[in-house]
Amino acid sequence: MNATMTMHMPSQTFMHSLVETEPAVRCEGIRKSFGTGEAKVDVLRGVDFTAAPGEMTFLVGPSGCGKTTLISVIAGLLDFSDGEVTLFGERWSALSPRDQIVFRRQNLGFVFQQYNLLPALTAAENAAVPLLAAGVNRSKAVRRATELLDQLGLGHRANAYPRTLSGGQQQRVALARALVHEPRLLICDEPTAALDHHTGEAVMDLLANSAVHPERAVIVVTHDNRVFHYADRIAHMNDGAITEVESRASKTFSTVPVAL
Ligand SMILES: Nc1ncnc2c1ncn2[C@@H]1O[C@H](COP(=O)(O)OP(=O)(O)OP(=O)(O)O)[C@@H](O)[C@H]1O
Ligand SMILES: [Mg+2]
Repeated sequence: MNATMTMHMPSQTFMHSLVETEPAVRCEGIRKSFGTGEAKVDVLRGVDFTAAPGEMTFLVGPSGCGKTTLISVIAGLLDFSDGEVTLFGERWSALSPRDQIVFRRQNLGFVFQQYNLLPALTAAENAAVPLLAAGVNRSKAVRRATELLDQLGLGHRANAYPRTLSGGQQQRVALARALVHEPRLLICDEPTAALDHHTGEAVMDLLANSAVHPERAVIVVTHDNRVFHYADRIAHMNDGAITEVESRASKTFSTVPVAL
């Protein structure tokens, strides 16, 4: 762990040490609908889901089954009508809206399916946003973001604007933004969807190395069966519920030296 990382450890308020068996993420009976009356759609129908620290948990299932909705609920980006989400021992429902914002900023990294980059900022500035929000000075934040872009094979595009980047390049900028503040929980929605096989493997290596930490967890939503061998656990989702959880004791991935 380098000096930059130490500076951004979450405050004591949210630093409950994890007891061995406590998952990083626990969802119990989560229900969520969109719309009302005739147009009401029950998207999450009582989801039970856990993700353990030190592990990479995949969430897989057919298009429209509720994967993005579930991870948005876990990240506190969408509310839910029933059930409870607990992250690192903190129940979402017990945090005030203000504490939820602080908690999310300190502990969560999220890669959106549609990237959601800010068009007026360069790649490095986009990737630096979580550090800037945490009060790190601009040049230090952009330098750290550029190092990370470099690790993702994008150092030469650090000063480019999102509209000039390919889909795969934008995806890697979004990934750098999610990783730059070393969150305890990293959630990625289809992180390899726009990438060729080689770049996809490099991204998964980076994620896997990030998860190899006793107090960090990574959740990956994916359709990409080329990367299933990275999973420690695969939760299968169908029609708004988890139908099966597969444990993968023999996962394989190449460990690349990354400074995370
Ligand atoms: N804001 C919304 N308003 C209304 N319906 C929504 C909204 N967001 C999602 N849905 C519906 O909820 C269902 C689940 O959507 P979700 O995006 O969670 O699926 P998904 O499993 O991530 O699919 P994909 O693999 O295609 O990304 C879909 O039927 C979708 O149309
Ligand atoms: Mg989705």
